[in-house]
Amino acid sequence: MKKSLKILVLAGDGIGPEVVDQALRVLDAVKGDSKFEFSIQHELIGGAAFEVHKEHFPETTKKACEDADIILFGAVGGPLSEQMNPKWKNCEVNSILALRKLLDLFANVRPIKIDESLIKISPLRLEKFLPKTPDLVIIRELTGDLYFGDKGRRENGTVAFDECTYSTDQIERITNFAFNLARKRRKVIHSIDKANVLETSKLWRETVSRISNDNLDIEQHTMLVDNCAMQLITNPTIFDTVLTSNMFGDILSDAAAVIPGSLGLLASASFGSSGKWLFEPPSGSAPDIAGKDIANPIGMIRCIAMMFEMATEEIMIHDKIEQAISRTLDKHIYTADLQFENHNPVACSKFTDLFLENLHL
Ligand code: NAI
Ligand code: MG
Repeated sequence: MKKSLKILVLAGDGIGPEVVDQALRVLDAVKGDSKFEFSIQHELIGGAAFEVHKEHFPETTKKACEDADIILFGAVGGPLSEQMNPKWKNCEVNSILALRKLLDLFANVRPIKIDESLIKISPLRLEKFLPKTPDLVIIRELTGDLYFGDKGRRENGTVAFDECTYSTDQIERITNFAFNLARKRRKVIHSIDKANVLETSKLWRETVSRISNDNLDIEQHTMLVDNCAMQLITNPTIFDTVLTSNMFGDILSDAAAVIPGSLGLLASASFGSSGKWLFEPPSGSAPDIAGKDIANPIGMIRCIAMMFEMATEEIMIHDKIEQAISRTLDKHIYTADLQFENHNPVACSKFTDLFLENLHL
């Protein structure tokens, strides 16, 4: 008998439901290869939940999150011009940020990889690194830093402060997580800090270096965050596993998202202290293209690949999906965001049809 895993699908708003539909078609096509059986439940979140329940993250959805083993999240949010409309006001804070808090998701994993056939669309000149192509993962701590310290105003509101805090425990758990992940990759970690200036970074560096001494099979480097920002753009192939704090990770992972050339190509995973995984593309609800069946589904399909890599640890299924993505792109089958050299773009659902033809080759 196969062990059963509960997947909760939170498609959300805008292109969320469109790309989630494609990802579920892919899950359906590969699930027979898994040693697990999957039960799938759908719940509302974001503006879609607000329409029905007058709140962005209703109790029924919270309960389903607590019951699930794995969460697949599309995107939430409305057009930037309608942010004051109650349906969209604070939508992201009330839904995805609240969800991260509810499940104590402390580690965010964002792989950045580029297929050789897409090197032409990257805004960076990556040809010069061939045969190497960038293939790195950013591990960002999610529970500490400037985001969660004391914040406020003093001196009649004319001085603002955000306290930056990190505890040894917080740094240890993300560092151990990063070492375990690096061990499954090329065994090189760059820990990114600003220890020349910040006390939290000094504690970060001491803690990482202590854990590094117990994990000598992993080559560990330290880099200052400002240098890292530059190296990610000028020298991305030097990195394998990049470990960093919440604030630096937020900025560095968006900077690194430039490497592949479209936000629609990326996936990310977050891991919680209760052992749950959440998979989501890092992009938003893309209201400018929503409802037209033109979004790039690859990021969300990669979420399924990551689910098999990280949550069920079935790397063969992950590789099968990634290889089919490469084969499809090699045939110049692109959605509109990847256009160059006048290829006719395919629709979101059509991309998936053709991807599925390439899956079983
Ligand atoms: P966005 O990521 O939704 O869109 C930025 C640009 O990238 C747009 O031109 C969009 O068309 C394009 N894009 C994004 N995903 C794509 C895909 N799969 N295929 C092709 N093109 C794609 O960011 P934006 O416009 O700043 O925010 C829109 C809404 O999304 C806002 O309400 C924002 O609050 C929300 N948001 C939600 C997030 C989440 O649910 N985790 C994360 C970021 C933003
Ligand atoms: Mg960001």
